[in-house]
Amino acid sequence: MSEQQAHLRVNNEEIALTVKKPTLGKDVVEVSPLVKHNLFTYDPGFVSTAACESKITFINGEKGELLHYGYPIEQLAEHSNYMSVCYLLLNGELPTSEQLKKFETQIQAHQELPEPVLETLQGFAPAAHPMAKLLALTSSLSGFYQGQGNMSTHEDQLKVAYHLIAKMPTMAAACYRHSLGKTAIAPNAELDYASNFFKMMFDKMPSATIQRALDRIFILHADHEQNASTSTVRLIGSTGAGPFESICGGIAALWGPAHGGANEATLKMLKQIGDIADIEKYIEKAKDKNDPFRLMGFGHRVYKNYDPRAAVMRQSCHEVLQESNSQDNPLFKIALKLEAIALQDDYFIQRKLFPNVDFYSGITLSAMDIPTEMFTVMFALGRTVGWIAHWIEMQNSSEKRIGRPRQLYTGPTRRNLV
Ligand code: CMC
Repeated sequence: MSEQQAHLRVNNEEIALTVKKPTLGKDVVEVSPLVKHNLFTYDPGFVSTAACESKITFINGEKGELLHYGYPIEQLAEHSNYMSVCYLLLNGELPTSEQLKKFETQIQAHQELPEPVLETLQGFAPAAHPMAKLLALTSSLSGFYQGQGNMSTHEDQLKVAYHLIAKMPTMAAACYRHSLGKTAIAPNAELDYASNFFKMMFDKMPSATIQRALDRIFILHADHEQNASTSTVRLIGSTGAGPFESICGGIAALWGPAHGGANEATLKMLKQIGDIADIEKYIEKAKDKNDPFRLMGFGHRVYKNYDPRAAVMRQSCHEVLQESNSQDNPLFKIALKLEAIALQDDYFIQRKLFPNVDFYSGITLSAMDIPTEMFTVMFALGRTVGWIAHWIEMQNSSEKRIGRPRQLYTGPTRRNLV
């Protein structure tokens, strides 16, 4: 990396700061030396702050481009599969067919849950949100697999990744079945990742279209660089906490409607709109600053163009609806019309608000009979590989140190009790 300098003048002092050059994307001014000049930077929401160096994923928000180790998401969704993408995110290269076979075998060998992990579900009311259950199950895994090795070798780190990637579908399906009062179905090591998950959910095999659509959903959610949940995983991991606890933090952060909870919120919104004739009314609500209503599944911190994942998801949605002869699905029709109207509206054009991955994922998942409360769990399932890939990258980074932001204090100055 060649280095340039940026100059900052504060109180007549000129401070030279190093400008770091990425392989792709925006230059990054290194501000850590500012503390020696009694200065902090202020950036609520981390709008302009890079908190780490990473090689895994690159997003060009202006162009609407998403690359994993250089490979465009559309190409991965079209020509690859979720297991290959997991291998890529963990190893930096797509697998050969032999490497893929070995990787799949590893995943299939780690799918079973220890019985006490499943028993954790008994502490929950069936109606509890499955994200709460998934959190508890993930946390309980640490009691069984933490401390196997010291996590400092890539081999030990990969072992944890296998446990997490393999067990997430088993846990997710068990959470769903618990909400129905049904017992969990054991994983089947003969099945591919998506089919095994579907079988554990519904005790039946998916059609080829649904299998492919599910696999694509997992690919589209696999990683998205330093989003809120991945940054949470990194922050927790920076304290020396183990991978399972760190991933629990990721699951909790994902749950919110501004992040992974948006797929659930989008479907609820489409149901609330209910009729194409009412779309304009809701567009006006979304634009009204005195109304808390927002178009869910619209807008993104990084994308100021069409989210490339949304385009793939829209296509998948078409395919799944076509198979079930549901092209006239009223929610899909509302979504298409809502998108068309919003994309012509000055408010959305000026703010560069486009559909994001969550806009069509809810309709696709519901067409597969996945219930609404499980949508964010599906996101977590796909994203687990991204979280653990970032956790591993951070563990091995020479720049690893505890994440500890500063603040702009605006409270009372020192005062005395007496
Ligand atoms: N509907 C209406 N207005 C919006 C929306 C929306 N969905 N999103 C942003 N805006 C407006 C916002 O009011 C603001 O307007 P103004 O400049 O007049 O104050 C402007 O656009 C910029 O918005 P912001 O809230 O400052 O942007 P942000 O980067 O802080 O938030 C976001 C990004 C994704 C949280 C936000 O767009 C949002 O709440 N979207 C709906 C929830 C959603 O779909 N989330 C899923 C994100 S993609 C999946 C994932 O990676 O997690």
